[in-house]
Amino acid sequence: MKKSPAARCIFLLLILQPLLLVSVQSLDVCIIGSGIGGASVAHFLRHYSTIPLSIKLFERNAVVGGRMATVTIAGDTFEAGASILHPKNYYALNFTNSLQLSINQPSSSQDDDLASSFGIWDGHKFLFKTIKSGSKSWIMQRIIAYANTAIVFFRYGFSLLRMDAFVESTVNKFLKYYESLESRPVFSTVEEMLQWSGLYNLTARSLEDELTDAGLSSLLIRELVTVITRINYGQSVKMSGLAGAVSLAGSGGGLWSVAGGNKQMAAGLINRSDVDLHLLENIKSISNLGNYYELNSTGGNSYACDVTVVATPLDEVAIEFSPPVVVAERKLQHTYTTFVRGILNPAFFGLSSASDIPDLVGTVEDPNIPFSSISVLKEYDDRDKTFKIFSRAPMQDALLDDLFSERTDTIHIDWAAYPQYHPPEKFSKFVLDDKHLYYANAFESGASTMETSAVSGENIARLILSRLSGETMDRESILKNSIYDGKVQGSKHSDL
Ligand SMILES: *[C@@H]1O[C@H](CO)[C@@H](O)[C@H](O)[C@H]1NC(C)=O
Ligand SMILES: *[C@@H]1O[C@H](CO)[C@@H](O)[C@H](O)[C@H]1NC(C)=O
Ligand SMILES: *[C@@H]1O[C@H](CO)[C@@H](O)[C@H](O)[C@H]1NC(C)=O
Ligand SMILES: *[C@@H]1O[C@H](CO)[C@@H](O)[C@H](O)[C@H]1NC(C)=O
Repeated sequence: MKKSPAARCIFLLLILQPLLLVSVQSLDVCIIGSGIGGASVAHFLRHYSTIPLSIKLFERNAVVGGRMATVTIAGDTFEAGASILHPKNYYALNFTNSLQLSINQPSSSQDDDLASSFGIWDGHKFLFKTIKSGSKSWIMQRIIAYANTAIVFFRYGFSLLRMDAFVESTVNKFLKYYESLESRPVFSTVEEMLQWSGLYNLTARSLEDELTDAGLSSLLIRELVTVITRINYGQSVKMSGLAGAVSLAGSGGGLWSVAGGNKQMAAGLINRSDVDLHLLENIKSISNLGNYYELNSTGGNSYACDVTVVATPLDEVAIEFSPPVVVAERKLQHTYTTFVRGILNPAFFGLSSASDIPDLVGTVEDPNIPFSSISVLKEYDDRDKTFKIFSRAPMQDALLDDLFSERTDTIHIDWAAYPQYHPPEKFSKFVLDDKHLYYANAFESGASTMETSAVSGENIARLILSRLSGETMDRESILKNSIYDGKVQGSKHSDL
């Protein structure tokens, strides 16, 4: 499958005869990883490019979606990995709409409170619990919702409003990434991209320090904020401020997901982007052979690519680069997700009845507590529910036997879920070799979500096209006019 002469030929043609491009062989783009990041790169390349591209996508597993995956228990499908989307995750919303997928009804925060109760467990007792509404009466449910708001307000006071303000200001900065293409530069480094929106400083300090400066009480940080960072990132409030703020945003109202599974966003984008998809193809080496990259797989295949995009975290995969590349050192946080169908044991929590256990049990930071959270996903009846447990270590059978009085189904998943966030964050480069080897997951050191992966993928697609057109010295021939609206970008344009 080698094609170095062809690749050379294309580059010559690119340089000499940009106008003939449409009639020549297309440029080979190879993407490694079929999660939302890789799927977004493919989607936006198709969307923005005016030259013929042949896109290959390699996925080491048998299914697309990466860290978006579902499990099925008793005929019901649940998100096993990336689960929730924010109402202002506009790329995910647009993907969902344009792929004609339906969304699981966003719950208004009140409705959420109506449906479920919440408590914080400190290893010995519940620090507080909200009231569970058993009533079918709308009026009673409303009253209980207000009572619950009052319970939370009584404990944390005006600090709650300061927390909301902090989250809103972070979300508003993030919205800059949806600005029009004329006013939004192509970014060649993560630092530049985060500085442009005003989010960079948050990656240099801990969430705890940021929130303390924002005037939050230490009680709120130690309890509610800790519960949220443990649920969303499996980490404490020592994590960096940007990922922490993103985590808090993922605890508000209006959260949604794709009905039937978020992974359908990746599947749909790949399906519609005319991608040559290679499932069960594990890339083990990427070699720069002058004008092109040679990708070898563990299955013994070789692929020649003009452009290569790594869209999977490099922290735990053993891809051999020649020549070697430098990436910022980073560890991934493993989150063990355990699904259990059965019923919790009230004695574990020192309670007399299982119905006194909140639907969502959050926990504070204490190494003796063996899980981060337990939540009810579905209630079939009082004694038959499906639960999801997050923990930092595998849930052993003996522990599960203590925690549950009955257990009919148990599913264990070990996710290399997201980076461990240690401020100040160090970022890998988007362009790993100053040629055409790109790294979409460099952005994940800022924050890791489905939407941030899409935002990074969009920038990578534009970066590829703008760097290719820079090589031909005729940017307009490759980039659709719409990207620049016919205007040449001045100082704002930060590519090469
Ligand atoms: C989402 O789609 C709408 C309607 O097509 C469009 O106006 C908007 O710019 C899109 N948003 C993003 C972030 O692409
Ligand atoms: C970020 O921090 C630097 C140095 O501490 C400061 O000069 C700058 O104004 C800060 N930027 C923002 C957006 O807060
Ligand atoms: C791919 O798209 C076509 C329509 O363009 C649709 O019929 C088909 O079901 C899709 N396949 C998948 C796997 O989404
Ligand atoms: C990749 O495969 C080709 C063809 O089998 C082989 O010649 C080359 O040495 C391999 N490269 C690496 C880095 O293993």
